[in-house]
Amino acid sequence: MRLARPVVFGNWKMNGLRAEGLALAGTLAERAVRLTGTLGVFPPFTLIHAVAQRVKGSGILVGGQDCHEKASGAYTGCVAAPMLADAGATAVILGHSERRHGLGETDALVRAKLVAARAAGLLVVLCIGETEAEYLTGARSARLRAQLDGSLPEGIGPEGLVVAYEPVWAIGTGRTPTAEEIRATHGEIRELLARRIVGGEEVPLLYGGSVKPDNAAEIMALADVDGVLVGGASLDARSFWTIYQAGGGA
Ligand code: PGA
Repeated sequence: MRLARPVVFGNWKMNGLRAEGLALAGTLAERAVRLTGTLGVFPPFTLIHAVAQRVKGSGILVGGQDCHEKASGAYTGCVAAPMLADAGATAVILGHSERRHGLGETDALVRAKLVAARAAGLLVVLCIGETEAEYLTGARSARLRAQLDGSLPEGIGPEGLVVAYEPVWAIGTGRTPTAEEIRATHGEIRELLARRIVGGEEVPLLYGGSVKPDNAAEIMALADVDGVLVGGASLDARSFWTIYQAGGGA
């Protein structure tokens, strides 16, 4: 199924106790009268069930921020993809830089998680992005290609896949690449996906990293940018909704 554009996803990260998470979800659900685009929130595991209940019927999608590569077993503290689905999630973020760089996740691990998530029927938001050192030394393209090659399983189709380009140095810093850099990079990723996956040009491409209400319109107007993955600004209902509208969503 093709996701309606814009695709605007909010990654709450490790934020939100029950009261504030439900208030945020409730405000979004009230605004989402008849969504013309795709709006989704990715709360912490503890809130997935409650948030999914709260937004039920609004069309807002709810997802997890990670999953384990196995479906069940002796993995203390981990959450499996079928558990996310069972809690009401229909999507999952995989390979976020805070997991790749903060927790040492490799492309191979991300690929195994991706297989598990697809087997559980979850939409996968695969994150890729270069570090600042790679950006400064012109190693960005090679890095993105390696991450896509390493993270995408052989023979995967375009269904149920979204790719988010998130430069590590732009996440939570207030800095972003220039519009021209984002456009060029998304064009490269689109080509890489088209070569790697049959129908890969259909995969929605999101930009992430310091997306705010005041830069969202410019970013989402760029060719090959189908939407955004928002961190900090997704914790405020008004900011998040403004970003969604800036991409043409109603
Ligand atoms: P940010 O985070 O919007 O706070 O920069 C983006 C992300 O990590 O997905």
